[in-house]
Amino acid sequence: EKGGYEHFMLKEIFEQPKSIHDTLRGRLLVDEGIIKMAGIWDNLERLTKAERIIIIACGTSWHAGLIGEYLIEEFARIPVEVEYASEFRYRNPIVTNKDVVIAISQSGETADTMAAIKLAKEKGAFVFGICNVVDSSISRFTDAGSYTHAGPEIGVASTKAFTSQLTILSLIALKLGKHNGNLSNVEFMRLITELDALPKKVEEVLSTTHDLVKEIAKDFVDAQNFLYLGRGYNFPAALEGALKLKEISYIHAEGYPAAEMKHGPIALIDENMPIVIIAPKQGHYDKVVSNVQEIKARKGKVIALVNKGDVQVANLADYVIEFPETSECFSPIIASVPLQLLAYYIAVKRGANVDQPRNLAKSVTVE
Ligand code: M6R
Repeated sequence: EKGGYEHFMLKEIFEQPKSIHDTLRGRLLVDEGIIKMAGIWDNLERLTKAERIIIIACGTSWHAGLIGEYLIEEFARIPVEVEYASEFRYRNPIVTNKDVVIAISQSGETADTMAAIKLAKEKGAFVFGICNVVDSSISRFTDAGSYTHAGPEIGVASTKAFTSQLTILSLIALKLGKHNGNLSNVEFMRLITELDALPKKVEEVLSTTHDLVKEIAKDFVDAQNFLYLGRGYNFPAALEGALKLKEISYIHAEGYPAAEMKHGPIALIDENMPIVIIAPKQGHYDKVVSNVQEIKARKGKVIALVNKGDVQVANLADYVIEFPETSECFSPIIASVPLQLLAYYIAVKRGANVDQPRNLAKSVTVE
């Protein structure tokens, strides 16, 4: 059932070219220049006229939501807020019938997310679900929705569900932006062509980085802390990279927007601090170069994720992982893959139970 892989998590990491393809299948029709999604189409007015979109989720799904905010605000120009479901449900939030809530949940059973949806519905919001498990409680309770179609995810650490959530959010943002006129035809075509190329690029990053990341992992088996940094779309990818590592390896890890480093975490940096930095060519590259210089001046160990052929960051970094270039907005989908592998191999080398980490359950059905 693990298809020859040692763990479900590794199998699921390797399934991503297919799971992303499955998320796009039947929806992204590049030749016709359209995105076809029944759940969106049937509620297009409601969605494009929303005064505000509130995204609620927990854990990895919340990280996907943060990237969703960047996507929807950039392409559809609708104001977006992202909240932890557990906070939203208890803080008496302001929600009206002009708001649209997008609830994201792999399992569709997360108690806090479900309670937040109930509250939003009571207050009159239209609730759109993004779930992976078909016919799950959340998928049944929401007003409309889209399935990610990533297939069953068994490993407690979410991998393929996350990249499929990002894929769905990309589709939604582009579709809304196209419909409400914020995205030109040319720009829409350019972006959907990039989106279509993602399964191939994810396949490429798996084959070009797997052995390298496995080697790099050996040097960090005894690490006690990790920092993950990224800017823009890759800031939430840094949060997700850190969550993966802490969940399965039990190494303390924190993610930060790279520019926040100087507001605190820089005090932690010395020769014992490994820092993973996501630095694609697009996305404030020059500023990330300065961040890496600041880290090296304090002797931090830099593991840099860069685009193929990168020179500046690559010259400064201690370890370099190259990934294929894409539009900045889709880069977390590719960059997350080597980060999943890094967490996986560090955890395996520490003898941890990666599919069933201590204290964690696949779906958190109690608050
Ligand atoms: O099933 P959900 O997406 O609602 O689950 C949310 C979180 O419990 C989940 O993402 C959790 O953080 C994972 N273990 C992350 O790998």
